[in-house]
Amino acid sequence: MAKRILVTGGAGYIGSHTVVELMQQGYEVVVVDNLSNSNINVLDGIASIVGRRPDFVNADCCDYVAIDNVFRSYTDLCGVIHFAAAKAVGESVEKPLHYYRNNIHSLTTVLELMQEHKVNHIVFSSSCTVYGQPDADHLPVDETAPRKKALSPYGNTKQINEDIIIDQAHAYDKLHAIILRYFNPIGAHPSALIGELPNGIPNNLLPFVTQTAAGLRKELRVFGNDYNTPDGSCIRDYIYVVDLAKAHVKAIERMLSAKAEEQVEVFNLGTGRGLSVLEIIREFEKATGQKLPYTIVGRREGDIEQVWADPTKANTILGWKADTPIHDVLLSAWNWEKHLRNIP
Ligand code: UFG
Repeated sequence: MAKRILVTGGAGYIGSHTVVELMQQGYEVVVVDNLSNSNINVLDGIASIVGRRPDFVNADCCDYVAIDNVFRSYTDLCGVIHFAAAKAVGESVEKPLHYYRNNIHSLTTVLELMQEHKVNHIVFSSSCTVYGQPDADHLPVDETAPRKKALSPYGNTKQINEDIIIDQAHAYDKLHAIILRYFNPIGAHPSALIGELPNGIPNNLLPFVTQTAAGLRKELRVFGNDYNTPDGSCIRDYIYVVDLAKAHVKAIERMLSAKAEEQVEVFNLGTGRGLSVLEIIREFEKATGQKLPYTIVGRREGDIEQVWADPTKANTILGWKADTPIHDVLLSAWNWEKHLRNIP
């Protein structure tokens, strides 16, 4: 019988790509999402790609009764992938309580109900934001680098969430968890049927780039060219969302086959290669043939100068590698934008 996984936030950007990969590997999936930052039509995209639809429950993970009902309805769940969370750094500074309530209460609710219903495997979406700006001798950053004081309530919720999982695993020895620290996910499914759906003016680089190329925005503003990097712009480890999604399948498989060596394991998910904002612009123009108007402006408050991953642990232990060429990744982002805007 197919194994069934509960995916919270499965209608979101990374969640939807992960649902596709899980279903293509033969898993049955129940998506729980309150659609606060996603669209129900994503399920159509998933169904077109996979050829079948995941089950869907419109519920908030902070709603104990509603989530309890999900666990009661699906008694054969063998794991949870917990994506559901608010994720905008700037918004979290304006609305810290919303972030603390939403991101923390949802995880404690899910963990409580997992114990109650004896579902003992969780994959958790964390972020490289927990490292802050790593010291120069920790670049590329591996999992042993110290966590730095969070620069935003959003970042703090990720640190607190990691700690909650560790404490719960300590108290409940049947729980197994894999914490995945994502670097910067970009791109869209090669089918262009699912992708990122930012609300309003995008904060993140790639949606801003593709919307500018599509003519929705006049120009991209590059936040700073006076950083201590080769071209002066910030450096990130941009990882293809489909590669990232595949890591979740590996993580679930690792726990279900009892290969995990520790009750809580942490993996960095990145490519191992840092690219600057200006390099992304150049690569985008090369991959798509689109001219990208941009202007250099001042630094964005709170930006980290440079961070990229040492993904060796995920490569060797999880047996996973992010190896899609940046050309293909950027083209997928552009194809998705064209699909959204009906651009031929
Ligand atoms: N950038 C621009 N112009 C823009 C948008 C972004 O120059 O219009 C630059 C930023 O200054 C930064 C880079 O592009 O140098 C990437 O910025 P993003 O906003 O896309 O990503 P961040 O690295 O700031 O943040 C992302 C996620 C967070 C996560 C963090 C971890 O949005 O949720 O990665 O590093 F916590």
